[in-house]
Amino acid sequence: MTSSYDAVYARSLKDPEGFWGQAAEELHWKKRWDRVLDSSRAPFYRWFAGGVLNTSYNALDFHVARGRGRQAALIYDSPVTGTLRTFTYAELRDEVALCAGALRRIGVEKGDRVILYMPMVPEAVIAMLACARLGAIHSVVFGGFAPKELATRIDDARPKVMLLASCGIEPGRTIAYKPMLDQAIEMSRHKPERCVVLQRPQLLAELVPGRDLEWGEFLAGAEPAECVPVAATDPLYILYTSGTTGIPKGVVRDNGGHAVALKWSMENVYGVGAGEVYWAASDIGWVVGHSYIVYGPLLKGCTTILYEGKPVGTPDPGAFWRVASQHGVNVLFTAPTAFRAIKRDDPTGSHIAKYDLSRFRTLFLAGERCDPDTLHWAERNLGVPVIDHWWQTETGWPIAANCVGLGMLPVKPGSPTKAVPGYDVRILGADQKERPRGEIGTIVVKLPLPPGCLPTLWQKDEAYEKAYLAAHPGHYLTADAGYQDEDDYLYIMSRVDDIINVAGHRLSTGGMEEVLASHPDVAECAVVGVHDELKGEIPVGFVVTKAGVNRPHAEIVAELTQKVRDTIGAVAAFKIAVVVKRLPKTRSGKILRGTIKKIADGQPYSPPATIDDPAILGEIADALKDLGYPKAG
Ligand code: COA
Ligand code: AMP
Repeated sequence: MTSSYDAVYARSLKDPEGFWGQAAEELHWKKRWDRVLDSSRAPFYRWFAGGVLNTSYNALDFHVARGRGRQAALIYDSPVTGTLRTFTYAELRDEVALCAGALRRIGVEKGDRVILYMPMVPEAVIAMLACARLGAIHSVVFGGFAPKELATRIDDARPKVMLLASCGIEPGRTIAYKPMLDQAIEMSRHKPERCVVLQRPQLLAELVPGRDLEWGEFLAGAEPAECVPVAATDPLYILYTSGTTGIPKGVVRDNGGHAVALKWSMENVYGVGAGEVYWAASDIGWVVGHSYIVYGPLLKGCTTILYEGKPVGTPDPGAFWRVASQHGVNVLFTAPTAFRAIKRDDPTGSHIAKYDLSRFRTLFLAGERCDPDTLHWAERNLGVPVIDHWWQTETGWPIAANCVGLGMLPVKPGSPTKAVPGYDVRILGADQKERPRGEIGTIVVKLPLPPGCLPTLWQKDEAYEKAYLAAHPGHYLTADAGYQDEDDYLYIMSRVDDIINVAGHRLSTGGMEEVLASHPDVAECAVVGVHDELKGEIPVGFVVTKAGVNRPHAEIVAELTQKVRDTIGAVAAFKIAVVVKRLPKTRSGKILRGTIKKIADGQPYSPPATIDDPAILGEIADALKDLGYPKAG
């Protein structure tokens, strides 16, 4: 098949209103839009202004009405609990309508916020869609975050209701969610009115009388709710993501643009049609889970898989192939780190041969840079195209990809291919000029962003402008640096801020530094993302203690790692820290984190001309050597 990518891409930029207006015809609108793109408040653009729809209707009722009621919509496959459950479109619609009715009964209405603190259970997906049905705004908080992170989100979103499960199940341990929720509510200034608890048999939660409600009780006798029409520009959800401080950013997603972009992407980026089986092996706490476990596949009429397990150890590195073969998965999407874990435990791919993967045709990877080794290993062992694609919580869908549905382009390892239609990607220098081909600069997207991308941050227009639009006026700052080659292929090299990517999870080293700095013995500190074979990067802390602190370093380090775990969460994977005498700095006092990273990764480095005392780099190298860095190979 020859690729129509070039023509489609060109049209998307030349005539965005015609392009996205046509894509929007695929959805059910209660009232058609007045304008496809409303630029009247630029740089705050709005897609499908005047349009009225319901996302939950488009994800469920729409398909039931068109004869998909008996098709599987959601398959819950949970090796950690030994559960397998399928919901047809009609069943899922009914469950969602009931849950929406139950939410309404406890006072949730259009525009109210509902926070979900839930693992990968069907009730979480049902609750997300139930909020959408009412026009309420959900905000899912990943279970690996600690109470303090949850409290920050509660204070920002000010939810009326919290929905949670009594526990999450990680291989080898059960994580009690309820005590974390109780602690979070104790810490937060805003107090949600009600908490609804899904009691999982693995660990029951204690309920607070008057405030907490058990899931069954919550649903019992509720009146199924119809879909509430909402403006295309109304928020569907808020998803918090790491910013450059300990304060997360509340990325807002609208209803109309989001539904249009995701439905379009299913066919054109991922090459999947209605009735096919699409599996995003991620977590609903992340953007990938929102877009491609829940909304994208259901908007398209696919069967989506909700997998509560890991790539390895549940029970073995064949777990993904077992799921793919059992459910006839056509397209799989996961993070490279999952493949590195599989490759580590099954280097020859021996588990793959045990399963019938004849329906599996494309693997998509995203969330972090895909190293060519992992890409080639997957290609070789699976015998299907392996597509690296690049995106962010903020955009909600890919910025760059090999759009398989438009006809595959040649794969260049190390590149997520080209800008996706709708995204006018540029590489700029500090002088605001475009960088020549092959030269690194900041990657930006010329405004307007396509539909589906964040219109703003939750109730923080100014912060949105400052974080994303101020650096390069007229452009959205991706905060990634990279370059474009002569064939327009993009290469994503690093972040320009303090964000690191740990096992595909986005974390702020600045946030970790805030936690370390709050320890009474710490005078100053730096956290650096160091290369890791499995997780891509892991955080390593360097701390200087206050004068007069004479406690054993091991004791301080143990307290620091525990403090980060307790404050940010296990997901930060902060396990390595070292006490050093001094930190390398420029004469103006800026800590040379980039240089520390290069030393740890065994890359060549030259001390900047502005360094205050070059000898400190030797001390850092010695400290790293004691920790085993740089790693061989
Ligand atoms: N609730 C509570 N804790 C959680 C959690 C959750 N939902 N998810 C993870 N954690 C904990 C883990 O138990 C682990 O704790 P530990 O330090 O006590 O071992 C910690 O957070 C880090 O978890 P994780 O990053 O998952 O690392 P891991 O070593 O357990 O597993 C991989 C490594 C590669 C197998 C795993 O990261 C993986 O499957 N990644 C897939 C990538 C992915 O889903 N990315 C999302 C974007 S596409
Ligand atoms: P998140 O918001 O958690 O999805 O993380 C987004 C960040 O992950 C991006 O800004 C990139 O730094 C990184 N990222 C995501 N996908 C890729 C990719 N395919 N290649 C390189 N980096 C990626």
